[in-house]
Amino acid sequence: MNLPAGPLTEAGLRQHVWPLFSRVLQRDEIYLANHSLGRPLDRLALDIEEALDLWYDRLDGVWDDGGWMDEARRFRDNIARLIGLSKPGDVVPKTAAGQGLRAVLNAIPKDKVTVVATRGEFDSIDFILKTYRERGRAEVRWVEPQPGSPALFDTSDILAAIEHGVDVVMVSAVVFTTGQIIDGLAEIVAKARAVGARVVVDAYHAAGVIPLSMDDLGCDFMVGGSYKYVRGGTGACWLAIHPRSMDLRTLDTGWFAKKDVWSYARPEEPVRAEGGDGWLESTPAILPFYQARSGLEFTLDIGVDRLREYSLVQLAELREAFRRNAVPFFDPADPTQFGGFALMPHVDAKGLRQELYHSGVNTDTRSGNVRFGPDLLNSMDELHRAAEITARRLAR
Ligand SMILES: Cc1ncc(COP(=O)(O)O)c(C=O)c1O
Repeated sequence: MNLPAGPLTEAGLRQHVWPLFSRVLQRDEIYLANHSLGRPLDRLALDIEEALDLWYDRLDGVWDDGGWMDEARRFRDNIARLIGLSKPGDVVPKTAAGQGLRAVLNAIPKDKVTVVATRGEFDSIDFILKTYRERGRAEVRWVEPQPGSPALFDTSDILAAIEHGVDVVMVSAVVFTTGQIIDGLAEIVAKARAVGARVVVDAYHAAGVIPLSMDDLGCDFMVGGSYKYVRGGTGACWLAIHPRSMDLRTLDTGWFAKKDVWSYARPEEPVRAEGGDGWLESTPAILPFYQARSGLEFTLDIGVDRLREYSLVQLAELREAFRRNAVPFFDPADPTQFGGFALMPHVDAKGLRQELYHSGVNTDTRSGNVRFGPDLLNSMDELHRAAEITARRLAR
């Protein structure tokens, strides 16, 4: 990719980036659900073909050097770069973010885990915690948002809930319903450490959107996945672990977590590998590593800093177009405190989303909000047209 250095521009993207996405750009619609399911590069299909070719060519030799496990290493490496983690080995591939949370819950050496979680956690996280609670395996203390629409969290409410006896704090870096960036993550980590709790940060709406440094933040765990902003489809998710929390032993394990996997040794004491390898499970799904490669490399090549800068420009353009067209939308006082999409609270958000879809504008809804998530494949003209179409639908 010969994208010039410096801030991204539509002209530069049209010339150097859009041709890499020729397949998805054939669709005749204004796609603004990039925050929900990211658009894949053309190369993704070829990468998967590469994985299959290796299998056809090498058969069981595909596990050897230069084969499938190299791609697993590359995936862990790329995720570590994405989230600012110095040791790629501390990234554990998972098939879902929720699987990452379960590995943490199943590592706390207690029959019943006390969890603090916000009401803004994604459905998967919410459901897992409620299931643990129903089975008597967890007590969950929910932190409610402040009254108002959209419903936003106050970090001080999260901090107040973190007290002695809490084992796990579950908090999103960017809240999926509203895009709110939880601003006091460092304070949350510090308070949790002071009371002996471990913090799990859900970075699904943050990784690839805002610059992250897990090294600096020092949270115990981070979970995320590839099907949104990093264009890698489903199944390519991860759990990243701080060295401080490597002392825990999770029940979510399997033979790939053994100290010497290929020795087939079976001592009575299960001896697990050092670091993140000791958190691996059974034989991994391989294709997701290939599927995630192009989007991760693309994101890292451009750089999350530049992507964020351009995303803020696009969101400002979209919000300005809403304003011009008298479309009521959530206008944040400080847009830098929000993630990769703009928000329109609406009494019938689902109905409006359907109408927009049939008018050629593809958005999505969560909790009474229509979410508009542009990416660098959207032209500014598309954003203007999306606002005009929305205004027309609202006027009917
Ligand atoms: C914040 C957040 N976490 C997690 C997920 C996905 O969870 P899982 O991988 O368990 O399906 C999503 C998907 O939309 C999300 O928005």
